[in-house]
Amino acid sequence: MTEEMPRVDMEKIVSVCQRRGFVFASSDIYGGLSGFWDYGPLGVEMKRNIKDLWWRRNVRERDDMVGLETSIIMSPRVWEASGHVVSFSDPLVECKSCHMRWKADDLKEQKCPSCGGELTEERMFNTMFKTFVGPVEDSASVVYLRPETAQGMFVDYEAVSAVSRKKLPFGIAQQGRSFRNEITTGNFIFRSREFEQMEIEFFVKPGTDEKWFQEWVEARLNFYISLGINREHLRLSPHAKEKLAHYAKACTDIEFLFPMGWAELEGIANRQDFDLTQHAKASGKTIEYFDEETREHYIPFVIEPSAGVDRCFLALLCDAYREEPDKDEIRVVLGLHPDIAPIKAAILPLSKKPNLAALSRQIYNDVRPAFMTMYDETQSIGRRYRRQDEIGTPFCITVDFQSLEDNRVTVRDRDSMNQIRIPIATLKQTITAKLAGEDFLKVPEGGEMVQGVGKG
Ligand code: GAP
Repeated sequence: MTEEMPRVDMEKIVSVCQRRGFVFASSDIYGGLSGFWDYGPLGVEMKRNIKDLWWRRNVRERDDMVGLETSIIMSPRVWEASGHVVSFSDPLVECKSCHMRWKADDLKEQKCPSCGGELTEERMFNTMFKTFVGPVEDSASVVYLRPETAQGMFVDYEAVSAVSRKKLPFGIAQQGRSFRNEITTGNFIFRSREFEQMEIEFFVKPGTDEKWFQEWVEARLNFYISLGINREHLRLSPHAKEKLAHYAKACTDIEFLFPMGWAELEGIANRQDFDLTQHAKASGKTIEYFDEETREHYIPFVIEPSAGVDRCFLALLCDAYREEPDKDEIRVVLGLHPDIAPIKAAILPLSKKPNLAALSRQIYNDVRPAFMTMYDETQSIGRRYRRQDEIGTPFCITVDFQSLEDNRVTVRDRDSMNQIRIPIATLKQTITAKLAGEDFLKVPEGGEMVQGVGKG
């Protein structure tokens, strides 16, 4: 928690998400299931944009990284070797009156937050989900849903380094679902029982680990800034030595100022050679790097930037949300970065008359392969603008009767509400350029600025 005031209430974010189809409670018609969420049509687009950008920046645009996708269920020996079976636990207390269970770390007082009742002694609760492989439900067939994607990268380290023929330093990246049977969930999608991670295991020569750790902290902070998150809503929080996980030499969290206060968005850890050593010991296989320059064999150290897709999604929404006075009402705007916005442009015909609809459909079909576009012809133009503002669409394209004669359309900018009128033939190219950051008021040949802002 923080002394600083977050700018937006969580209820407003939840309300926009439900109203506009970003996120719904899972199994809602059956009363929901605590800690599980569904991403609706807009949510899934936005989530995909986050993951695609992360993948592009960290895998496709780097020479020293490769991708991987490992199975969610792995041999239970993986989790024994990694230490998760013994120590992936949270301290649990139970109320002696109402029997609600709580994570002891989250409690401010030694009484039940729900009814004020007396609490039991702490006991450790392992938060890995268990299930069985095959038709027999006995202890020999117990497996776990992975609580992190990271172990897949360690277990496949030898195979990946052999096929990719990468020299140190190099990293393996993975995105995917992780599962934790959290004692308490909450703050919307901030802490769920099923969530997605985007993790990097970056293998380095021992001795160079501290330098690489600093580089990754900086690179990951810059990633969030490049997505448009206000720098003042981000901070670095290095862990005190006594709070480090059992495998870590150092760890720094990137925190965001969420509606409930400062909280972890991503953690960057120096895991040393802990995991590779453990898997080498437990599997009996040699896991080593041969350094051709120094002719040495050693186990690499690893720097791990570990991010949550859902937390990134929530941070982006919280940071982008704003309310502005609009006549007698309030204009809600999601000022999302164009790369993140689920819809890049909306085609809005001024009327449903067949000739206008035909031209609008033709424009829609022409531009949609270039960028995610929505066609919206219901209700007044003002309401349609507001609807697009609320879901963060950077540009609205209005097709009017004049368009049938002058082959031009009006483009409205979400943030400034400025408008330009441009030839239909230049539309695809112009919107693509503006999505990439071109000044909105720069018009192509045959275009002009329109007087007055497009409030509708
Ligand atoms: N491999 C290291 C690891 O998993 P972590 O700090 O436990 O580290 C990394 O998790 C990131 O995963 C967190 O910073 C957060 O973004 C996300 N995360 C962890 N638990 C989560 C949960 N219950 N719900 C949503 N996201 C979660």
